[in-house]
Amino acid sequence: MPRAAGAARIEWADGNMPVLRSIRERFAAERPLEGLTVGACLHVTAETGVLARTLAAGGAHVVLCAANPLTTQDDVAGALAEAVVHGRRGDDPAAGVREVVAARPDIVLDDGADLLSILHDAPLIGGAEETITGLVRVRRLDLAFPVLAVNEARTERLFNDHYGTGQSTLDGILRATNLLLAGRAVVVLGFGWTGMGVARRARGAGAHVIVCEVDPLRALDARMEGFEVMPALEAATRGEVFITVTGCRDVLTARHFARMRDGAVLANAGHFDVEICLADLGPGEEVLPLVSRHPQPDGRELNLLAAGRVVNLAAGEGHPAGVMDMSFANQALAVEHLTLNRGRLSPGIHPVPEDIDREVARLKLASLGVTIDSLTEEQRRYLGAWRP
Ligand SMILES: NC(=O)c1ccc[n+]([C@@H]2O[C@H](COP(=O)([O-])OP(=O)(O)OC[C@H]3O[C@@H](n4cnc5c(N)ncnc54)[C@H](O)[C@@H]3O)[C@@H](O)[C@H]2O)c1
Repeated sequence: MPRAAGAARIEWADGNMPVLRSIRERFAAERPLEGLTVGACLHVTAETGVLARTLAAGGAHVVLCAANPLTTQDDVAGALAEAVVHGRRGDDPAAGVREVVAARPDIVLDDGADLLSILHDAPLIGGAEETITGLVRVRRLDLAFPVLAVNEARTERLFNDHYGTGQSTLDGILRATNLLLAGRAVVVLGFGWTGMGVARRARGAGAHVIVCEVDPLRALDARMEGFEVMPALEAATRGEVFITVTGCRDVLTARHFARMRDGAVLANAGHFDVEICLADLGPGEEVLPLVSRHPQPDGRELNLLAAGRVVNLAAGEGHPAGVMDMSFANQALAVEHLTLNRGRLSPGIHPVPEDIDREVARLKLASLGVTIDSLTEEQRRYLGAWRP
């Protein structure tokens, strides 16, 4: 693809990332990252290009490699003037990681802990991790510097997990099957940040949504929101579309498959392809791109989407720029926070400070033209006055 196409993609993403744009304007004026090298191992996409632009506007030298070489947009990598990009689509990711490590970054941004696993005991100012899976790994490392858990910021979870994955999971299912959701029984297994988004969006499309959970609080939450809640074995007899989004394994197995109706559709939005037990489902034949049909011993057939892999990424487009805007706004402000507090934060994992979350939300509201009230001084005193 020509370089111009990459530049156009970055411009398009930029136009849909108003929060990052306003941070970039401030960074360009204040230059808080002057002289720093930021090493990043992220998906090399147009949205990441906009993040690189923002960090560069703040004065940083940005060195980027791919967290997953199959998501690299080569035209974007070629057009991105604000970062040194190592690796192209399909390259061995380890080679890119080595190049970023060799650039001796002061701060690292990770999506899956590839850089942090190597640099965890180096004298860095700090790091930030984008994913749950990466954080699980980082928690096992002996860190010599602070790492901000960007994934756990409230604005990140709301937009990435809830609104982003909620929408793109249904988008992936519809692209693969072109089903009419209205009136259909959709079973959502797992009512966490992500499952809740999927369940709400499915209901919004007119589906009858049934939720299965193992956590009584979340099950109660689902019930109080008006969803039907029941054990998965019971839901198996009722559902027409099943969506697993638990982070757990063997959520749907032979016991469930045996009770499902002919033609049921099975999709997974959890991170790994272990939520629907593929061994129990048996062999299938591809009937449409990303749809395989699996005959059962009694003659019924079940349809599996995207071989049980994350359906929104396999069959959809991944997160829209408007979602990445919030994630990367947290990343950009995390880099600034680590820089401003250099030497003051203890080594280990830190939550993203609430001030950053609030600032990201404030900037997003401003971009939407929404204004809100603020507390008066008297109200602030009143709220802070209570003493035990
Ligand atoms: N597809 C994507 O783009 C995307 C985006 C964000 C998260 N995820 C993945 O989605 C999964 C869930 O993430 P989350 O942030 O919602 O996590 P979460 O911890 O908030 O929610 C998971 C829920 O699943 C429930 N659960 C666990 N095992 C279960 C079982 N056997 N049956 C029924 N319910 C069960 C838990 O009680 C919990 O409420 C993870 O694998 C995460 O990596 C995918």
